[in-house]
Amino acid sequence: MKLIYEQSRPGRRASTLPNYDLPAVDVPKELRRAEPPRLPELSEPELVRHFTALSTRNFGIDTGFYPLGSCTMKHNPRVNERVVALPGFKDLHPHQEEESAQGALELMWRLQEILQEISGLHACSLQPAAGSLGELTGLMLMRAYFEDRGEGEQRDTIVTADTAHGTNPASVTMAGYKLAKVATDARGNLDLDDLRAKVNERTAGLMLTNPSTLGLFDEHITEVAAIFHEAGSLLYYDGANLNAVCGISRPGDMGFDIVHINLHKTFSQPHGGGGPGGGPVVVRETLEPYLPVPAVVRDGDSFRLDYDRPKSIGKVRGFTGPFGVFVRSYAYIRSYGPGLREMSETAVLNANYLLARLRDAYDLPYDRLCMHEFVLSARNLKREHGITALDVAKRLMDYDLHPPTVYFPLVVPEALMIEPTETEPKERLDAFCKAMLAIAREAAESPELLKEAPVSRPVRRLDEVKAAKRAIVKFGFDEHPDLSGEEGSGRQLEAQKGA
Ligand SMILES: Cc1ncc(COP(=O)(O)O)c(C=O)c1O
Repeated sequence: MKLIYEQSRPGRRASTLPNYDLPAVDVPKELRRAEPPRLPELSEPELVRHFTALSTRNFGIDTGFYPLGSCTMKHNPRVNERVVALPGFKDLHPHQEEESAQGALELMWRLQEILQEISGLHACSLQPAAGSLGELTGLMLMRAYFEDRGEGEQRDTIVTADTAHGTNPASVTMAGYKLAKVATDARGNLDLDDLRAKVNERTAGLMLTNPSTLGLFDEHITEVAAIFHEAGSLLYYDGANLNAVCGISRPGDMGFDIVHINLHKTFSQPHGGGGPGGGPVVVRETLEPYLPVPAVVRDGDSFRLDYDRPKSIGKVRGFTGPFGVFVRSYAYIRSYGPGLREMSETAVLNANYLLARLRDAYDLPYDRLCMHEFVLSARNLKREHGITALDVAKRLMDYDLHPPTVYFPLVVPEALMIEPTETEPKERLDAFCKAMLAIAREAAESPELLKEAPVSRPVRRLDEVKAAKRAIVKFGFDEHPDLSGEEGSGRQLEAQKGA
């Protein structure tokens, strides 16, 4: 596919403005640009075709099955978009007076109340813009809490699991804490002996996701909570996997003191590529004074922003947070109503269905019922046929399926982390199983095909590190070869003549 600059031809236009008879504006010479901008020149149909062709090269939840473990890529009901586009929400200005934004404030307040109920905790701030920012906010709350108690210097360590998502150690480091990693035991729980050895008077808290990134619910979670509370430490719940337990079990009841909720995973709406997202934090009473300002509060029948929180950690995001995300989450939760637990039950059922169908063809490192996701290993294929998790993932693309998360969590070699979500019908799940089982057979019968995969995509295997670290995001006029086919007419010159 050609780049838009390569398709450009001098003088072509997507639209023509009418002539006007206004006097020319006298722009001072020093402010005039010396050369016209180097914009691509195309007719409207070619422009439309270019961007339409680009859009069909994307893979998203709207184009197919997207079982990206830990990322909960679920369908975004279109009613969410209808609701968020209501003029009262869409046209709201963040500096609007509170009296004229009562509906928006009420929605935020109600969402806070719902999230408190779902978490089993007491107070909420919607401000953080993502799970990772929720983590950082939660750790800042811990720090404020311990400083207030005169233990700020003493408590300098956060405990995480060796299965933790990369954002957990990153947030711990950003918040200025030391990290202590706890091993996973043979059943996929936190190893209690290792844990006990790492919790002491220097421990500020635990940061854990439950169910874990192995898709397993920790069987000793109340014991874990007791160990931390007895040491005077706090427990932070990374809510990225809340999709497994909504309406069934609550982090607050498990003993957690601070929770972040990934609105963009658990309560639908699009996400990926760095946003948009929402990572509200919900806390116990003892931590409420430290929550970010402004707090959205209710006074009788009206709602307002409260800045009068002297112990607050301050702001972690502009205004009151990502409002459009709140509207979508609220619409999604209300459309389930009291039956929200069905969402989690179906997510867990779908994952267990896949697990039951795939467990004989792939290695299963932790043989337990899973929650909303599970982790297989391709190490049997590697051992027997030299086929890796990456080969399996790339081959899935030839079957029009998005690969699962691979090589994470790190404790499972050749990991394939699969999360179907509750929105997939049985036919889609069966199609995925069929492809996964076919790939396991291909690994034995024609491993070279898997090494080549993907064979039917516009691009084959990319150097992903180079693509991430040295992304080329602008057209190199000077370096780019002239692809116009016109001898002697460099694209650079043609483009410069344009506009
Ligand atoms: C277990 C876990 N924790 C934290 C995060 C970070 O969340 P976010 O992407 O919203 O920053 C993720 C994201 O995938 C996750 O899976």
